[in-house]
Amino acid sequence: MAFICRNAALLLKPCRAAPALLSAGRLYSSGGQYEYILVEKRGEKNNVGFIQLNRPKALNALCDGLMKEVGRALDDFEVDADVGAIVITGSDRAFAAGADIKEMQNRTFQECYGGNFLAHWNRVSTVRKPVIAAVNGFALGGGCELAMMCDIIYAGEKAQFGQPEILLGTIPGAGGTQRLTRAVGKSLAMEMVLTGDRINAQEAKQSGLVSKVYPVDQLVSEAVKCGEKIASNSKLVSAMAKEAVNAAFELTLAEGNRLEKRLFHATFATDDRKEGMTAFVEKRKASFQDN
Ligand SMILES: *[C@@H]1O[C@H](CO)[C@@H](O)[C@H](O)[C@H]1NC(C)=O
Repeated sequence: MAFICRNAALLLKPCRAAPALLSAGRLYSSGGQYEYILVEKRGEKNNVGFIQLNRPKALNALCDGLMKEVGRALDDFEVDADVGAIVITGSDRAFAAGADIKEMQNRTFQECYGGNFLAHWNRVSTVRKPVIAAVNGFALGGGCELAMMCDIIYAGEKAQFGQPEILLGTIPGAGGTQRLTRAVGKSLAMEMVLTGDRINAQEAKQSGLVSKVYPVDQLVSEAVKCGEKIASNSKLVSAMAKEAVNAAFELTLAEGNRLEKRLFHATFATDDRKEGMTAFVEKRKASFQDN
């Protein structure tokens, strides 16, 4: 929810009101223009939704307007029948250096509680399609929390992860204390949350926070490739698989296994399960219809 990079503090600016004019180079969704993000579809079959955080002067500080745009883009991809996976990335320098501190500086408890501040960020963790975070550079505070709301994190070699809120007199407020602890265990999570110290890409890999590390310039294309791989499977069954894995963080082992069994049984109600097994038996590639 915050950033650690002190010299970046000077750069962080609150969101501006959206300009009335459209400018060249921006991409639009059916819902209209975006000011803080770039949105397109990637992959050979255009089946990977791609969201690039684009507030370069603020190191992609996650102001309210930016997170609302991410939510809108996700809504669009969620209902787009061609999209089978979504990649969220930032720039080479920063995935997102944190939440927007200027937006928070003078906020009162009453405003935060009354308006359920940061609650809408949760949209990222409720998407049913698989979401991959491709993290180059800083993923600090809200940036780290945003990455952890995604299903898979790929890191570039220069990536840095951290929850430095304690240095600003606050604590993570968008899942940092919960998702980080589940991902890396108690000791490292406590150390990061209590000292504000960052970990680098290799440490993030060792601790299980990220699944792969790539050279900076290959990261995004590798994340899109992973998205294409996922999108080539049944979207219906992928959603079930995602639901089942996520249940591991919410349920007891017995309840989680019961849910898994029910979802496993449910795959037998799909055409895609029949096609997948038939193709395997016939030694050909399956052609899934998401049905
Ligand atoms: C917050 O309040 C202080 C003191 O009133 C003021 O100087 C500062 O500009 C305010 N910050 C923002 C971002 O509005």
